[in-house]
Amino acid sequence: MHNNIYSYPLIKRIKQFEQKVEYYGNEILDLTFGYPINLHADWMEAFITNIDPKLLHTLHKKELKQSIKRYFEQLFNKKDIRLTNSASEALMVAIHSCITEKRDEVILLDCGFFTYPSLIIAGKGKPIFAQRHTDRQPDMDSIKQCFTDKTCALLITQPENPTGRIFTKEEIEQLCLLCIERKVTLIIDHSFIESSYFGLDINILTNLQYNPFLENLSWIIIGDTGKVVCLYGIKYGCLITSDNLKEPIDNWLHSILFQFNLIQMHILSQILHDPRLKDYKQDLYQKIRNNFSLLESKLDSRVGILCPQATPMVLLDISQFLIDDLSFVERLLEEEKIALIPGSYFIQGYKEESNYSGSQIRIAISRPKQVIEDTIFGINRFLSGLQSK
Ligand SMILES: Cc1ncc(COP(=O)(O)O)c(C=O)c1O
Repeated sequence: MHNNIYSYPLIKRIKQFEQKVEYYGNEILDLTFGYPINLHADWMEAFITNIDPKLLHTLHKKELKQSIKRYFEQLFNKKDIRLTNSASEALMVAIHSCITEKRDEVILLDCGFFTYPSLIIAGKGKPIFAQRHTDRQPDMDSIKQCFTDKTCALLITQPENPTGRIFTKEEIEQLCLLCIERKVTLIIDHSFIESSYFGLDINILTNLQYNPFLENLSWIIIGDTGKVVCLYGIKYGCLITSDNLKEPIDNWLHSILFQFNLIQMHILSQILHDPRLKDYKQDLYQKIRNNFSLLESKLDSRVGILCPQATPMVLLDISQFLIDDLSFVERLLEEEKIALIPGSYFIQGYKEESNYSGSQIRIAISRPKQVIEDTIFGINRFLSGLQSK
């Protein structure tokens, strides 16, 4: 049924690639995901190593939840936060709450975050892909044309992964109006909201200065601490929603989310409210900007580097070489022990149009400088043995 989106040979190859990445473990340079790795501050680590075993018996779920919610409240300027174990869990609940009938349609943008289509299909819905222009800007007319009587939601990412693009205030307002007109829920995945590494403002739905939309719009926001403060996988996600969706979302959460990991919550709540967090973020931003400069100055000049507006994700254009994205990442892993994500991972609904995914590779630069330098060295050596067009 969904063969046009998920061709089995593609999934099989990507799965095999991921299994190899996991098998190699610490032997390889893994730049396949955006969580900052080995970039956290020593004081964060101390919250784990200095944990008092006696204190563990006094942990209180309600207070810990309140403490993490307070962080999200400040971030999104909105009360009434629903916590989730991860952003993926929040996304699943958001999507499944919107799908009320089999084959209800959720509109996505071509080449968006790779889990969205599967989450929609798992909820018995149908992903509908709106096109982008060749420069990856969303095609607003194509989004409009995707709306049908079966549309239940439009899901966008702000800022986007993998394109690193930021929706402007005007674009968000336009999408709000469309969703109000068509009585469709607007889901905005703000997982990377704190990743403004290049100093640009990232508009948040709940923060728009003049916002007549929120009262009339059915909306859901996804939040996540993991993209800036990921300490050995300790992270929490959240959902914020318009009043009309609170009940269906609570029903979902109630049936799947009854156990919270209190130790994890304890560590995270201490980090999130520590006064040193601000400096940590500034330091992280600087390191990522430096890593980007390294890529620009040292990577083989035949590779196109697409600068993100936000997020630590950089797309590399390898169309100058006689190799496709999947073969590129497979061979790079075997020959140089470097793991990157192939563009084909990010589903492109309209393959017959300009096929940008297949000639791009995504690299996450939220890594220590040495890792980025070693990666650049390895990629350049690999490229020196490839034929260019
Ligand atoms: C845009 C976006 N949303 C959601 C997620 C899911 O986050 P998690 O794996 O922490 O649940 C990711 C993960 O990278 C992401 O990039």
